[in-house]
Amino acid sequence: MPSSVSISLSSKGVHMNRINNRVAVVTGGGAGIGAAISIALAKDGADVAIWDWNVDNVSETVAAIEEAGRRVIVCKVDVANKQQIAEAAEKTRQQLGPVGILVNNAGVSPEQDFVKISEEEWDKVFDINAKGTFLCTQAVIQDMVDAQWGRVVNISSSSAQTGAPRMVHYAATKGAVIAYTKALAREFAAVGITVNNVPPSTVYTAGLQSVEERLEGGIQGYVNATIPVKRVGQPEDIANAVAFLAAEASGYVTGVTLSVNGGRYML
Ligand SMILES: NC(=O)c1ccc[n+]([C@@H]2O[C@H](COP(=O)([O-])OP(=O)(O)OC[C@H]3O[C@@H](n4cnc5c(N)ncnc54)[C@H](O)[C@@H]3O)[C@@H](O)[C@H]2O)c1
Repeated sequence: MPSSVSISLSSKGVHMNRINNRVAVVTGGGAGIGAAISIALAKDGADVAIWDWNVDNVSETVAAIEEAGRRVIVCKVDVANKQQIAEAAEKTRQQLGPVGILVNNAGVSPEQDFVKISEEEWDKVFDINAKGTFLCTQAVIQDMVDAQWGRVVNISSSSAQTGAPRMVHYAATKGAVIAYTKALAREFAAVGITVNNVPPSTVYTAGLQSVEERLEGGIQGYVNATIPVKRVGQPEDIANAVAFLAAEASGYVTGVTLSVNGGRYML
């Protein structure tokens, strides 16, 4: 149980200190959903290591984590590169301590007509989204085994649930992440490590912003046609679900796909 429980109110929602001074690694924490996850975990009581291959724009996220009273480090790392991951894991252990929480969020989401997807494009998206999830988990899971406590949260995608035209390669990686979640959850359940995944859908980050003008009726038109709650998702919507799965109190939740999609896909 956490040694103390306090409640703070912020413009982005209510955060309780539900994480007992754990160290969290958030891949792709430098932007978008990963930045929101990093801040939410810090507000809930974690020190945070941001692992991202682009660390140019992390200052606001770092400041928000420090404002929450937590420690933060930033590691420049490509999640498809085993050597860089090993170095980031070592730096994280040395500067923050053993890793208790891993959020595999880094991902790329290319679009391409199926018949034009090259073998190189297929391999690249699998290297980052699927193999990257495997490599990052393997690099830190011994810390969790040693502590007999751990939380792995994988960010998948609603595209693996609904299908997505022109994203066959991407959706296939995210289907792999969902299956990976269940298999890993079974392998480590008895040693106190939970493994879950959150599939976002239509969250307003750079990726969605880049295709905004191609959507008929703009974002709101698309949202009205596809999302029952009638609003676009925000990074904090995903972060709140991740914070729930990472919490001390969530130890009986494992192998789950926790859909956060405004009701777009209900299962
Ligand atoms: N935004 C959405 O609507 C949506 C929907 C479904 C799934 N997702 C998933 O959510 C996750 C985050 O998406 P986002 O919208 O915040 O994306 P984003 O592009 O805004 O941010 C992704 C972050 O990951 C980092 N990154 C990418 N490849 C990396 C690599 N090889 N090594 C290290 N860092 C890397 C980027 O630098 C960036 O900081 C992704 O896995 C994405 O597939 C997003």
